Amino acid sequence: MGNVKGFSSLLGLLESNLSFEREALRRYKGFAEKASNEELRQLFLDLAIAESGHMNGLINVIRAIKDSTYVVRFLCPVCGWEISFGENPEIGAITRCRMCGVTFELIETDGDFDIRRL
Ligand SMILES: [Fe+2]
Repeated sequence: MGNVKGFSSLLGLLESNLSFEREALRRYKGFAEKASNEELRQLFLDLAIAESGHMNGLINVIRAIKDSTYVVRFLCPVCGWEISFGENPEIGAITRCRMCGVTFELIETDGDFDIRRL
């Protein structure tokens, strides 16, 4: 985990969360199978569906990061607007906040993207 440029910590968190969701799904399905009460059985099945949705969302984000199709964005520390470096940016890429006009450089620290005001 964490071997994709700029996403080391985020990928670790996403993969850890995915493991948690997988375990939750497994447990809710098990609870549903064992529930003798129909309402409880349905509740656990609904929770399993919810966990499955969380898993799919996480899998999609992890895949996009690993495929380098995830857009690298930050919130402008000056005005709070979104500043984007696009997909698969190079370290050292420079962009300007569209709202306040301040310029930022994309840097990488300990495997994680960050920005530096120029
Ligand atoms: Fe800004």
